[in-house]
Amino acid sequence: MLRSSRGLARLLHQSCLWLSVISLIGVTGLLAFPIETNAETLQEVMARKPDIVNGKKVYQLCATCHLSTGWGKKDGTFPVIASQHRNIILKEMVDVLSRKRQNPTMFPFIDPKLLGGWQSIADVAAYVDQLPPDPNPGTGSGENIKRGAEIYQQKCVVCHGSSAEGDNEKFYPRLRGQHYGYLKRELEFIQGGFRKNADPVMLTQLKTLSAEEIDAVADYLSRLMQQ
Ligand code: HEC
Ligand code: HEC
Repeated sequence: MLRSSRGLARLLHQSCLWLSVISLIGVTGLLAFPIETNAETLQEVMARKPDIVNGKKVYQLCATCHLSTGWGKKDGTFPVIASQHRNIILKEMVDVLSRKRQNPTMFPFIDPKLLGGWQSIADVAAYVDQLPPDPNPGTGSGENIKRGAEIYQQKCVVCHGSSAEGDNEKFYPRLRGQHYGYLKRELEFIQGGFRKNADPVMLTQLKTLSAEEIDAVADYLSRLMQQ
């Protein structure tokens, strides 16, 4: 009896310790200064020759949130990153590190100092790029998909492509196969000016859309894997 309650106490003590470590990381993430990057950082990381074997090792940390498949969470809390273009993955990571894009949840976990330097960032991006896409991402209500398709053809297709496949060289993200919840949130973040690394031409297009239209286009995009 005594032994088991001591065991329990030790266990509790250990979980408290872990909790404090985790919340400390969280708080440091919120308060931390941006990681030093400059105009050349992205070019320099993109030019590195990636080592996918090391990328897989580095990815273990990312898998805590994005899962081992890279498919994130169906409700969109964590996006699908599997199959995203390598240059996009790198740009988004650099933007988060420099605080151009706010992502306090992820910020402390992608610090190059933690992962083994910028080479590890190049490696993990190449690993994520070649993971197979999520065939069945989370979707919306399905009520306005036709309107969503029209909006996409009129205002988005020119950059994101006819099947929303994006373009690695031009830095247009792949949108097909992404969760509805994430797409909707990002469109709102971009439209409202919270996500500051967005394309200015896209921003003018998004400003013309109502909340219902944002919902419709996000729902349409989340269903493209079913076609
Ligand atoms: C603690 C959880 C967490 C960890 C660990 C994490 N991420 Fe994330 N990541 C997120 C969240 C949350 C978002 C979406 C943020 C938003 O809504 O803007 C995200 C977004 C991203 C994006 C942007 C996706 C896009 O389409 O623009 C990339 C790329 C990414 N993560 C890569 C990684 C990589 C690579 C690692 C590991 C080195 C990693 N993440 C570790 C939580 C995490
Ligand atoms: C002029 C080209 C252009 C147009 C038009 C455009 N986009 Fe984009 N879009 C981009 C670029 C570039 C990015 C990446 C910006 C960044 O670095 O975050 C992006 C990012 C996004 C993202 C975030 C993706 C992610 O993984 O986080 C979504 C969602 C999106 N666009 C949807 C749309 C929709 C919907 C439309 C039409 C209403 C549209 N875009 C029109 C260029 C464009």
